[in-house]
Amino acid sequence: MGPDTLGVLGTGTMGAGIVQLAAQSGYRVTACDASVEALERAQVYVREGLYRFAEKGAFTEDEADSHYERIRWTTNPQELGDAPAVVEAIAEKVEPKKEALAALDALLPPDSLIFTNTSSISITDLASATGRPEKVCGMHFFTPPPLREAVEVPRGLLTSDETLERAKALVRSFGKLPIVVEKDVPGFVANRFLMPMILEACRLLEEGVASKEDIDLLVKKGLGFPVGPFELGDLIGLDVGLDVISYIHRELDEPYYAPPRILQELVRAGRLGRKTGAGFYDY
Ligand SMILES: NC(=O)c1ccc[n+]([C@@H]2O[C@H](COP(=O)([O-])OP(=O)(O)OC[C@H]3O[C@@H](n4cnc5c(N)ncnc54)[C@H](O)[C@@H]3O)[C@@H](O)[C@H]2O)c1
Repeated sequence: MGPDTLGVLGTGTMGAGIVQLAAQSGYRVTACDASVEALERAQVYVREGLYRFAEKGAFTEDEADSHYERIRWTTNPQELGDAPAVVEAIAEKVEPKKEALAALDALLPPDSLIFTNTSSISITDLASATGRPEKVCGMHFFTPPPLREAVEVPRGLLTSDETLERAKALVRSFGKLPIVVEKDVPGFVANRFLMPMILEACRLLEEGVASKEDIDLLVKKGLGFPVGPFELGDLIGLDVGLDVISYIHRELDEPYYAPPRILQELVRAGRLGRKTGAGFYDY
């Protein structure tokens, strides 16, 4: 693998988008997921995504094909072993992420960087699972990664200035704007705005104040947001949203962040949003 190579661990909602973005930015990508089904879904997502960009004239169909061909798909994490940088995008759970980062640390050359797409979890804590905390940094993409213009870059307590600069350079090489978060706080900046919006929407719905359709409509047509809170929850994945809210709740010890019952029930029922065909809405 050359310096133009990027590893992506986890090819779910976010990982698939990051793989597409990296490939269309000219990187060779090693895309690794523990699940064959997740890899297959990501392959379809990336192929369709690249063709959509081609249709819009971003590049030709032949270029879309060659972007796709630069991706190597695998269930074997060993294949990430010579990547100069890996973006971790597995589930939003502390212990599995720490285990994955420790495994990457054991696998990667000493100067390789580890970026994590966590939406809320302490970078410092995740980095502590590795022997290279100065080379670990947050790289929080928004959904869908090929379309959103900015990437939040939260640094851990021990993230070096050099790693931060390399993180920003990588984000810029994707054509995106890196926005640094200097303090490693639960939820960083983005989810300290977003999650309260989803929380309030759930509470208003639970109290019967308005229907979900009307809440979404009001937020879009009245407040001018591009998407309503329930639509956004379904896009993010309600399991991911619940994990983020639960983590912030635990870490800040603020009753305000107690996960709404409706969110917990939908997740228990397997209604996780667009990715399962149903969440707050049916798809
Ligand atoms: N969904 C969003 O809108 C969003 C936005 C920004 C950041 N994030 C963050 O991105 C990360 C991934 O979220 P997602 O929505 O893509 O989740 P997801 O559930 O859609 O995908 C996670 C993928 O990781 C795979 N996986 C789990 N453990 C693994 C392991 N040990 N090794 C290899 N693969 C493994 C799963 O098979 C799955 O395909 C989370 O940290 C989440 O908080 C999500």
